[in-house]
Amino acid sequence: MHAAKSGDAKWKSGHTWSLVYHLSEDHTEHLIDVYRLFFAENALSPTAFPSLKKFESDVVRIMARLVGGGERAAGTMTSGGTESILLGVKTHRDWFRSRHPKARRCKLIVPATAHPAFFKAAAYFDMEPVTIQTGPDFRLDSAEVAKAIDKNTAMLVGSAPSYPYGIVDPIRELGAIAQRHDIGLHVDACLGGAFLPFMRKLGHPIPEFDFSVPGVSSMSVDLHKYGFSCKGTSVVLYRDSALRRHQFFVKPDWLGGAYASAAMLGTRSGGGIASAWAALMMLGENGYMDLVRRTLSYRDRLWKGIRAIDGLELVGEPDMSVFCFRSTKHDIFSIGAKLEKRGWRIDRQNNPPAIHMIVTPNHRLAVSAFLRDLKNIVATEPLSKGKAPAAVGLYGVTSSQTSGANPVESLYRGLESNYE
Ligand SMILES: Cc1ncc(COP(=O)(O)O)c(C=O)c1O
Repeated sequence: MHAAKSGDAKWKSGHTWSLVYHLSEDHTEHLIDVYRLFFAENALSPTAFPSLKKFESDVVRIMARLVGGGERAAGTMTSGGTESILLGVKTHRDWFRSRHPKARRCKLIVPATAHPAFFKAAAYFDMEPVTIQTGPDFRLDSAEVAKAIDKNTAMLVGSAPSYPYGIVDPIRELGAIAQRHDIGLHVDACLGGAFLPFMRKLGHPIPEFDFSVPGVSSMSVDLHKYGFSCKGTSVVLYRDSALRRHQFFVKPDWLGGAYASAAMLGTRSGGGIASAWAALMMLGENGYMDLVRRTLSYRDRLWKGIRAIDGLELVGEPDMSVFCFRSTKHDIFSIGAKLEKRGWRIDRQNNPPAIHMIVTPNHRLAVSAFLRDLKNIVATEPLSKGKAPAAVGLYGVTSSQTSGANPVESLYRGLESNYE
């Protein structure tokens, strides 16, 4: 297995700009110790494992307070951002159905920049997603959202920030629209929920994004990103526990005994829940503030270096440590390919063609070398501006798997080939 790992992405040295949020060997060792201690425990049964029940309710309460939740705020831990989003959407669907029993298939209004998990949720829960494109400044225009609402609209979606551009949507405006129509607003703060509040405490101006904004009814916040917990940990939060009720599933007459389940999974890892609790306790408010401060200093160095290179510019005005940059002069994807030849793992995206980056404290090791390579490639390598491909692959598939006459079929084939 050690040998099998040798071809994997190099994240410890900071050569990867997504997928892994690494702090230090020490921090990871502590998380592993805690995970080991609760390795076999199963949060399916809070009565069998009151320790996990305590950890989960502490984590939910701490995260809810961090993002402006009041006395009535409630939530559950989940296995990740996707599960938190799926649950947030399902809950709003069921809340809507409880109030409009005769309504047809209900809708959710999703900015094009929102995570694909919202479209997955619509597909899983038989809802209709209505996509709203962003304007020329890469920001969501809330007037476009308001125009798209009709009597079957169950909820709105905003991101804090969105993955593609790292921009926080106009949450106050979306909240006002949601209130006006008496519908829900889910704010996806998977990336920002454990980052933006500390930025604010450090004195940075950050857009309003959380439960302090009237109309925000639910939020998703990942612990396994900027919470620096182990993989498989996130929270879905509700302004009011009455809304959370629509998330739950019960089957009182099951032959194996009355069954009640709060989230999507049945068996849930005790290790994950314990590690999330431990990460919060080990780092504490001061620890997270220090991490955010350091991350922003690496981000600032990257921004300064990128802007100083001929033809390179940031896309839009990102709000935290997630951003992308493009080139007005060169083919950004050939810059990406040349960076990859030098050992960097590069995430690409379209509209506009750009290179995407998520900065973490671990990039301390990488900023200077990355900027040196970038500068060198732009200054010395032939990089004619060609035609950008229609789509580039992210995470699950390679770029070649997104091409072809039938992109949907190519993507299905790409997924299948991952299991060959
Ligand atoms: C903004 C945002 N929301 C949700 C998710 C989904 O999170 P996960 O991959 O943990 O399911 C991501 C993942 O990158 C994200 O960036």
